[in-house]
Amino acid sequence: MTPEEYRETTRRRTFAIISHPDAGKTTLTEKLLLYAGAIQLAGSVRGKKKQAAVTSDWMELERQRGISITSTVLEFEYENRRLNLLDTPGHEDFSEDTFRTLAAVDSAVMVLDRAKGIESQTRKLFQVCRMRGIPTFAFINKMDRPGREPLALLGEIEEVLGVRAVAINWPIGEGDRFRGIFDRERRMAHRFDRTDHGQSAGTANSYSLGEAGFVAAFPDEAERGALREELELLEGAGEVFDPGQFLQGRLVPVFFGSALTNFGVEPFLRRFVELAPPPRSRPAGGRTVAPDSEHFSGFVFKVQSNMDPKHRDSVAFLRVCSGCLDRGMTALHVRTGKPLRLDRASRLFGQERETIDCAYPGDIVGLPNPGQFVVGDTLCTGPAIHYDEIPRFPPEHFAVLRNQDVARFKNFRKGLDQLEEEGAIQVLHRPQVARREPVLAAVGRLQFDVVQFRLKAEYNVETALEPLEYRLARWVRGEEDALEELARGAYGPLWLADREGERVLLFRNEWEAKRYGEQHPEVTLLDVAARFRHIIGAEKKELSG
Ligand code: G4P
Repeated sequence: MTPEEYRETTRRRTFAIISHPDAGKTTLTEKLLLYAGAIQLAGSVRGKKKQAAVTSDWMELERQRGISITSTVLEFEYENRRLNLLDTPGHEDFSEDTFRTLAAVDSAVMVLDRAKGIESQTRKLFQVCRMRGIPTFAFINKMDRPGREPLALLGEIEEVLGVRAVAINWPIGEGDRFRGIFDRERRMAHRFDRTDHGQSAGTANSYSLGEAGFVAAFPDEAERGALREELELLEGAGEVFDPGQFLQGRLVPVFFGSALTNFGVEPFLRRFVELAPPPRSRPAGGRTVAPDSEHFSGFVFKVQSNMDPKHRDSVAFLRVCSGCLDRGMTALHVRTGKPLRLDRASRLFGQERETIDCAYPGDIVGLPNPGQFVVGDTLCTGPAIHYDEIPRFPPEHFAVLRNQDVARFKNFRKGLDQLEEEGAIQVLHRPQVARREPVLAAVGRLQFDVVQFRLKAEYNVETALEPLEYRLARWVRGEEDALEELARGAYGPLWLADREGERVLLFRNEWEAKRYGEQHPEVTLLDVAARFRHIIGAEKKELSG
């Protein structure tokens, strides 16, 4: 890697914002862009609920439902850092998309609503970050509204998430008396003023605790006293930020603020770019690949088709992990073993695309995908490597999908194949009815709506959905005769087959699956993670063989 390429690599910060719906992820995203100078007036990322012009959301369904389903990449500069922000869907009823996005980031920001604390979706997403060792920040939002006490919130993060939480800044006042934040590291108080509903960046004045200006800026003596007391309490508790623990994902630096009124956003952004790690080494089949390696490599973490409904196109999102992707270079598509010329890699901002000349580790590029990419694919130059599998999550919802118009069966199949390839849904089949009435398996129920909507919008196919009562899938292995025999049984689980023809059993609950396993020791039941580990393992063997 040349010194210039190295410089570009180390100034990248690739991150995601995770939150429960309504905590303020969109508002904070917008304010980060505002303070970074990437947008002039807040309001252009929004549009989820009221505006028609949407840049961050692609699909009409998102507009109709007022949610953000697909992920977008926003790139912006701040303090000589290149920030790549991967948008993660925040709906409660999530899909695997969110989890895959987290495989492509180097850090995460968790937005909490001060009135609600840690909510279910935040907890799940944080667990994924923790599992993957992703350093995570907390931004406690809506301090301009009533809610839980700051100390109680720190306690909640520690208790519910099982990590240390250290406040980097501290709120001064709260609710309608929220006036500013105190930077514990620099020992400066920042006083904010509410300006035109937070649409423009506005200025903050800063004071050290002892100076006269501080008293003038925060004239309420009781408020100043409370601040002093709370700060002493924090010092007394030995709450010191340890960057090492943060980078290991064992400590969460906490920031208080209000994204809507811009309070605390800039101090957060400033500290974020200092603390967030640059692209790091990644595991690939038993070894680690350093970002500054001379060879280019990256992996596909998302496939999205029909982004532009007028053109039936599909885009694979690739995270560059090492070396540089140069326009026109030829890389190996490791799974297929085929060389691939990369001359149309592009940057994406909502629906806009721009062909790029080079991309560095930490960057996300879109590759035109006429069907050759699936999630998890590795591209590289130099010796073949395979990035470790993106974890899969067990489907918990199942439903029969019926095509309502026999004449459009071909489109029905085509659309469904495409959506399965994208990873939007998993498709299972009942051997008796072959592919006519597939069973959809989803992590979140919303995925069903997405599939039905997209089949209609993109393939003009009307479908009906019949939810099933099963909640658990197990892949089954064993002697063919034994399996045949069991499959004929009138009672027990529902027998299906997946895309590769592997047998899948659906159970109503964990207990049923466990009992079935005990009653039939001649077969092995695998969960989704074990099933796909097997596939990746086989691919790796092929590679090294
Ligand atoms: P999300 O992406 O996490 O789902 O949350 P979003 O930013 O859309 O924010 C959810 C609601 O919370 C919005 O109000 C937003 O204006 C409000 N909000 C965000 N940050 C703050 C804050 O710091 N203080 C206060 N008081 N409110 C905040 P909404 O009424 O649902 O939408 P809208 O009418 O503002 O579009």
